[in-house]
Amino acid sequence: MGAKNLAVLGLQWGDEGKGKIVNFLSDKAHAACRYQGGHNAGHTLIVNGKKLVLHLLPSSICHKNASSLIGKGVVVSCDALFSEIEEIEPFADGILDRLKISPACTLIQPYHILVDQLKEKSNSFTTIGTTLRGIGPAYEDKVARRAIRIVDTLSESKLTPKLEETLSYYNFQFKNYFGVDELDFNETKDRNLEYGEKLKPLLADVSGTILKLNNENKRILFEGAQGALLDVDQGTYPFVTSSNCSPAGIASGAGCGPLDVGYILGVVKAYVTRVGEGPMPTEIHDDLSVEIATKGGEVGATTGRPRRCGWFDAVTVKRIVQSNSVSALCLTKIDVLDGMESIKICTDYNQDAAKLAFAECMELDDVEPSYIECAGWTEPCAGVNSYEEIPENAKIFIKKIEEVCGVPVDIISTGPDDASTILMNPDL
Ligand code: GDP
Ligand code: IMO
Ligand code: MG
Repeated sequence: MGAKNLAVLGLQWGDEGKGKIVNFLSDKAHAACRYQGGHNAGHTLIVNGKKLVLHLLPSSICHKNASSLIGKGVVVSCDALFSEIEEIEPFADGILDRLKISPACTLIQPYHILVDQLKEKSNSFTTIGTTLRGIGPAYEDKVARRAIRIVDTLSESKLTPKLEETLSYYNFQFKNYFGVDELDFNETKDRNLEYGEKLKPLLADVSGTILKLNNENKRILFEGAQGALLDVDQGTYPFVTSSNCSPAGIASGAGCGPLDVGYILGVVKAYVTRVGEGPMPTEIHDDLSVEIATKGGEVGATTGRPRRCGWFDAVTVKRIVQSNSVSALCLTKIDVLDGMESIKICTDYNQDAAKLAFAECMELDDVEPSYIECAGWTEPCAGVNSYEEIPENAKIFIKKIEEVCGVPVDIISTGPDDASTILMNPDL
């Protein structure tokens, strides 16, 4: 392969199993870097038999020899970060020594969370089904150039005029549009100065750290949050998150060059799930959906909401693969399909008229999926850790996915723990 750095990111609507894979690959890495999203993510790892769910910390955090980087494209909630550190510290000694955060990160503020919640509750706005963590409003501030970045909280004289401008913008909305109480300036300012004090020891030149590791020929993992179909530009807009979770977001969000990402591993489930609102052409509407959700434990790792389930949609995956230079797939949760009589893969959408809207705009409301059917298997995939032991029909299913998506499957995951992983590409 030759590529040293790897990106691990989701190609569906999130929750593909990225956290497990980043933790698994961290053994051979010197750093892992989150580059977008915030604590809307919920990445599950099994470490020493214990299930950990990470929201902001990179999934390398339990590896003492790897740095865990949070790049400038991440929106950081200081409160969420420190409660996560406290929760994870007993299982990952010395987090504070290897966690480095970019001071250029936008800070999630109390007013972002309030606006997210008010908009989702209001009848005047489309309900997106957000995680209610203030992610969208924080990214809005960044693009509108009124965000409070971590660096701003390090000096009161720098913070004051910026916060005055931004808070007055929000308080005008709270008072005149939403009809709720305004936020107190001094309280919000003091809170921000506290954020600055707490975060100061963790701040680092993340971009420079990546440059240094690259010069030393050390491997960096770039860890995506959410999935390409939730990407603000490439996903099912407006039912998306507010960042670029596809590979395009790596360079800007981590602070490196696009060519620093040598290999892009697209993580896909053997079926699809979605949390929140928005179209999902292959959604299953009968008891089978409940069966898959139950077997796959399809409950949101962040919000506890049930995940909608559907058949593997190769049309969207192929499009994302082709337009994002995806090198290979990591196919997860194939064990969840164990024992099913037949398994569908969507390989086309029938309406020609909908194709332009699909291809360029990811408008999936009106498409009608057409499927191929693969025979199921009776021997289990669950826990299998060598390709030879994969049941023949499951091998045919995997080959079909490679064929319709146009890239090889380089990793197969057959369970939540590291032992249930098959590395098809030894260079990883
Ligand atoms: P992420 O957001 O992409 O990191 O994924 P989540 O952690 O939100 O959801 C994936 C869920 O599936 C977690 O509960 C994982 O422990 C679990 N998981 C990951 N890979 C596999 C697998 O191959 N088989 C099974 N059965 N579970 C898996
Ligand atoms: P990981 O990294 C699945 C979804 C929300 C909602 C939409 C917008 O664990 O895969 P937001 O709060 O981001 O403004 O919500 O995006 N969403 C996710 N769905 N996995 C995630 O993260 C998600 N992060 C956000 O459910 O539909
Ligand atoms: Mg998740």
